[in-house]
Amino acid sequence: MKPGQAKLAIFASGKGSNADKIIQYFENHRNIHVSLIVSNKATAGVLDIAHKNGIPSLILEKHKFMESNEYVQYLKNQGITHIVLAGFLLKVPDNLIQAYNNKMVNIHPALLPAYGGKGMYGEHVHQAVIQAGEKESGITIHLVDEEYDHGKTIFQAKVAVAAQDTPSSLAEKIHQLEHQHYPVVIEKWVLRTS
Ligand code: GRF
Repeated sequence: MKPGQAKLAIFASGKGSNADKIIQYFENHRNIHVSLIVSNKATAGVLDIAHKNGIPSLILEKHKFMESNEYVQYLKNQGITHIVLAGFLLKVPDNLIQAYNNKMVNIHPALLPAYGGKGMYGEHVHQAVIQAGEKESGITIHLVDEEYDHGKTIFQAKVAVAAQDTPSSLAEKIHQLEHQHYPVVIEKWVLRTS
């Protein structure tokens, strides 16, 4: 790999619609390559997306992920330069966060610091936003540090919450916002930090 080339690993636990958009966006990129898809769930839709796109994937064993340095070494050996979390539901262990200090981002489907932290994922977030009568919600893209949903925010975008919105209609709006922005924000961040 030439200097200035970045190799991304995308970590996801679910459907992987964000991973899909990111893969498409970087398909023919000069400097940035999606090199690995990582999941903690053998049945996650994101693994089909990896397969369809010919991208290698890795299924994590939770115990090994939480308790050893094995995967950190693997990622380093593969030359992974940046990690993108896209709906990854396990807490990332400190050794991995430290190994990718400032080189790991996450997307959260609300306007942090509100509606973040443990238990605030998926529809739980949208449910809480609607229950509180918020007039707007949005997305937050942030660096990952040792606390849940806590690292430095690098991007936010907002969307209106309508009176008739349900958690699933709001989720749909938020997904659109994520798909529109996450790949572009990743590109700028990676180019800045390579
Ligand atoms: C996204 O809404 C993201 O913000 C959250 O998990 C969801 C993942 O969706 N962290 P998908 O698997 O990319 O469709």
